[in-house]
Amino acid sequence: MTQLLKPMVSHIDNIPSTPGKLKTEKSSPYISRLRLHYSLPKLTMWSFLFLALILFFVLLSPPSSPPTNQSSRRSLQTTSWGGPVWERRVRSSARVRSGNGLSVLVTGAAGFVGMHVSSMLKRRGDGVLGLDNFNNYYDIGLKRSRKALIERAGVFVVEGDINDPALLRKLFDVVAFTHVMHLAAQAGVRYAMQNPSSYVNSNIAGFVNLLEVCKSANPQPAIVWASSSSVYGLNSKVPFSEKDRTDHPASLYAATKKAGEEIAHTYNHIYGLSITGLRFFTVYGPWGRPDMAYFFFTKDILKGNPITIFEAANHGTVARDFTYIDDVVKGCLAALDTAKKSTGSGGKKKGSAQLRIFNLGNTSPVPVSKLVSILEKLLKVKARRRVLPMPRNGDVQFTHANISLAQKELGYKPSTDLETGLKNFVKWYLSYYDSKKSACYRVYNSQQRSLEILSNDLKGI
Ligand SMILES: *[C@@H]1O[C@H](CO)[C@@H](O)[C@H](O)[C@H]1NC(C)=O
Repeated sequence: MTQLLKPMVSHIDNIPSTPGKLKTEKSSPYISRLRLHYSLPKLTMWSFLFLALILFFVLLSPPSSPPTNQSSRRSLQTTSWGGPVWERRVRSSARVRSGNGLSVLVTGAAGFVGMHVSSMLKRRGDGVLGLDNFNNYYDIGLKRSRKALIERAGVFVVEGDINDPALLRKLFDVVAFTHVMHLAAQAGVRYAMQNPSSYVNSNIAGFVNLLEVCKSANPQPAIVWASSSSVYGLNSKVPFSEKDRTDHPASLYAATKKAGEEIAHTYNHIYGLSITGLRFFTVYGPWGRPDMAYFFFTKDILKGNPITIFEAANHGTVARDFTYIDDVVKGCLAALDTAKKSTGSGGKKKGSAQLRIFNLGNTSPVPVSKLVSILEKLLKVKARRRVLPMPRNGDVQFTHANISLAQKELGYKPSTDLETGLKNFVKWYLSYYDSKKSACYRVYNSQQRSLEILSNDLKGI
């Protein structure tokens, strides 16, 4: 690097600040002119090539791999917030635009479910303010694209952490939110073995911090939040119903979500907060999470990489109750719409409040091998399958939701089968990653073009 820079620096030294001063130099005018003639185009060419190369590699580099303990340590020093301009944006984003609309704070708004819920609420005329810490658990570029999409729809996404009490209090000072849709969390079952503190930090400490601010708010908002089907853990009674045991989680992720359900009970009991927990069952679809199997299977099948399919003991089938994003969004909105008001105010309980928990699944578990077959058909590429015994790292053999409670109370009725949902996902995947690639080539080509124009221009000097 320094070797490359040194000649460039010496070239810079050789360029007079204004061409007119050239003749005042001590060296012979002929040599100076000769030097200028060679060095200026060369310098510019080199710097442009250098820049083009850097840009090219930055754009082509693959998304960063899951971070280590060190690099993913959450920082609360979020980008600057506050000030009259910022407050105006917050207020305007959260302003209700329809008759009896809600004013909702959506945490994890740049996440998969958060993005879809935010845009659907906004489309209905509800006021929506997003909050997201843009951590690097998976490709931040994807989160930024989701944010750009919902900001075009009028949802301001504040960059900040649910563990930051000053920021949360400020948001409630500026807006009297009627509801909080709490979707910010550390997701992923296997990653909990690499970075356990991240789960405690987001799913427990962050949740408590949020509830603390909500309970002190006046008025208190009603809260709907994302629990998980993983709380059923080693439950073998199918389908899973809300009344089943959830005290034998198989992963730290599940344990932190289960802890969240107990913490919700406490805040409901002591402070009169209205709280609804939603147990999501393997939500998938366009703009999904890259750490989920359907997503990285798609990527690997297209790349020709082998994919690993797990099987349970005695060649048992591993199956998931895949639930399409649009169905889940409807469930989330119905949960918000049917949530009763919190009863307390300013940290004091005034009466008993609503406390609910619902399964949001699809009621039809599909073997993971079937998922792969559907993807093969949609992508028109044969997968290189590797079948391995399932490791004991937190995954359960199957999930299957009993959704009759959500059906009765929320009118929840999932209507998308896996083929249809995956077709939509694949369509999105191909267009998203294809357009990213071509955007990259566009930049590269325009660099090439400006290089040509530049060198043509320089020939005229
Ligand atoms: C599903 O749950 C409901 C209670 O919400 C229960 O009455 C019903 O029997 C369950 N169905 C099955 C098939 O377990």
